Amino acid sequence: MPPNPYPAELPAARVAARVAHRPAPLPALGTAFGLALALALAPAASHAAPDMQALAEKSGCFSCHGMQNKVIGPGFAEVAAKYKGDGEAAARLARKIQEGGKGNWGRIPMPPHPGLKEAEARQLADWVLGAG
Ligand code: HEC
Repeated sequence: MPPNPYPAELPAARVAARVAHRPAPLPALGTAFGLALALALAPAASHAAPDMQALAEKSGCFSCHGMQNKVIGPGFAEVAAKYKGDGEAAARLARKIQEGGKGNWGRIPMPPHPGLKEAEARQLADWVLGAG
């Protein structure tokens, strides 16, 4: 198992769940407190959103891609521009990141990344598409 790249997310969610489910002497108060805490924690959790740049670095994406410019593969901003408005691009790119492929940018293939989980590949695809 690769190390969890989003360590801050899970514990916060777990704490919120535990607090929300704790039986309280005054149920209404307990629920209100749980809700308030969950709400207070929510921004913290989203602030600790996956650091896609770090995941891309760790996965070696930048040995072939620049954020803007082509290296061996296209710059991520170029990819974002190419698929702008294409609602199915994220799913397609996620599969390509995991399985590799060629033909959209030239004859050099992108190697597969079998170590990435499907969710990670999808997050990377969304992140690349937002790089424009
Ligand atoms: C060994 C070099 C290499 C590595 C490492 C690499 N890529 Fe690529 N990537 C390429 C090449 C070459 C292409 C162009 C493929 C083509 O023409 O369809 C490409 C294409 C892409 C595309 C566009 C695909 C399409 O069909 O338009 C995305 C998105 C992408 N890479 C993301 C990533 C991500 C994210 C990583 C890291 C997990 C990564 N790449 C790692 C070489 C690489």
